[in-house]
Amino acid sequence: MSQRKIPAVGIDLGTTYSAVAVLDDKDCPQTLLNAESERTTPSVLLFDGQNVVVGKLAESSKNTHFEGIVEYTKRDLGKRSYHKHIEGVEYPPEALLAFILNKLKKDSVAQIGDFTKAVITVPAYFDEVRRKATQDAGYLAGIEVLDIINEPTAAAIAYGYEKSNDQADGETVLVYDLGGGTFDVSIVRIESGQYRALATDGDVKLGGVDWDERLVTYFAEQYMSTYNLDPRDDPNSLGQLWRIAKHAKHTLSDEDVCTVELESPLQALSITITQEEFASLTADLLERTRFTASQTVKAAGLSWNDIDHVLLVGGSTRMPSVSTMLREESGAEPKRSISPDEAVAHGAALHAGRLLDKQRGRKTKFTVQNVNSHTLGVVGVDPSTKRPRTARIIPRNTGLPITAKREFKIRPDQQSIKIEIVEGESRSPDACQLIGACMIRGIPADLPAQSAVEVFFKYREDGRLQVKVRVKGTDIILDSEFLRENTMTQEQLDAWRDYITG
Ligand SMILES: Nc1ncnc2c1ncn2[C@@H]1O[C@H](COP(=O)(O)OP(=O)(O)OP(=O)(O)O)[C@@H](O)[C@H]1O
Ligand SMILES: [Mg+2]
Repeated sequence: MSQRKIPAVGIDLGTTYSAVAVLDDKDCPQTLLNAESERTTPSVLLFDGQNVVVGKLAESSKNTHFEGIVEYTKRDLGKRSYHKHIEGVEYPPEALLAFILNKLKKDSVAQIGDFTKAVITVPAYFDEVRRKATQDAGYLAGIEVLDIINEPTAAAIAYGYEKSNDQADGETVLVYDLGGGTFDVSIVRIESGQYRALATDGDVKLGGVDWDERLVTYFAEQYMSTYNLDPRDDPNSLGQLWRIAKHAKHTLSDEDVCTVELESPLQALSITITQEEFASLTADLLERTRFTASQTVKAAGLSWNDIDHVLLVGGSTRMPSVSTMLREESGAEPKRSISPDEAVAHGAALHAGRLLDKQRGRKTKFTVQNVNSHTLGVVGVDPSTKRPRTARIIPRNTGLPITAKREFKIRPDQQSIKIEIVEGESRSPDACQLIGACMIRGIPADLPAQSAVEVFFKYREDGRLQVKVRVKGTDIILDSEFLRENTMTQEQLDAWRDYITG
């Protein structure tokens, strides 16, 4: 394939499957095949001694080496001080994801030649901490992250491209993205080459794996009621159960019934399940997505009638229950014109092309505007109760980039102020995610009464935050990166980068 001089690469780093796309010389996105000649790569790692195997081989070792398997790592990103212990080494989630990115990059380089720049996608509902962690994972894999882009926005760009921009012009689309581990809904307005998100919502812990888990439990219970033995007690049987569950789920997307053979631990058992039974085992999960989708329509100030198309993205939208539910909800047939597994990577490659063009001073073909998916604020004090309260600075679903400011009074005796930055919808800061803090020291004692400190938040287009603090009436100003919670130091990042990229 002939392509641009500096390849425009987009990486969909999925919870269960990842994909890479590049723009060809006609600026058309093409999915790259991995070393196994497949269009998607399982986001699965197998630790075998000092060896780390990524992808299909790891995935197919679940029946035999389940204890060495690491998967669904994307769900662990941003967890406070979380590390996975494997054979005496503590791996932060960023490093585990970097092993996947490293394989994706290596396989892609084999096809398109060396490159360092790429766009990586994230769920729209990812918070600031998870976005930063994704960028760090890219760094650890030796990738210069051009930008991180929201997965539903990327899918909308791919949709607009496929329809050729003018045909999709003036459309409002609802992107329903149900992947392996996360769920996102975004409402995107496509107009005059601009992709503008109106509202977004989701759940970073809801995806195909939760449907799989219901089947794992169901099959294990069937086995127990027959043999009085829990197959989940044996790691390899558990690995087998997960594989069987996924197979059954996929079969039930095309057939009304499915029979699986569970071979372990002692005796085999054959279990039959119908599509209807599966739907009832998982009805509450689907309901959560329905509720979130309808809330997002409201948050955009719209009704279902205003939605021109519902776009299905993510492998889990192949479950027939999803389109049935959305048809009933929206009154129209949801669309699957774009490949649900590749649309996100394609949109990311188109976005990469746009950014590279911009860097070279070229005219770009489209623009993107996102909204923030979580409210940002600082920990304040409720004047009446004196209890901590979230002081909101940027409410969710605000168009990005945005700069906002809020003032806080300084007590007469106050010499220092700690500003704690939080993200979340709750009025109580404890229920929000603490992103980091910054400290203002040396406040002069002779400040006039009622003096104030100004806190400026700049939330960038990519969903990353910058904070500036100023004490009014003084030259005290804090304009650096704030101190983050739970993040790696530059030395740690570099050490991991050397280790992972070899
Ligand atoms: N035919 C099918 N029927 C039901 N589910 C399917 C089918 N094909 C794929 N899936 C499910 O789709 C999920 C993978 O989808 P996808 O590749 O879009 O997710 P991902 O990008 O890895 O995850 P995320 O976007 O949440 O990070 C898996 O849970 C898989 O079992
Ligand atoms: Mg995905």
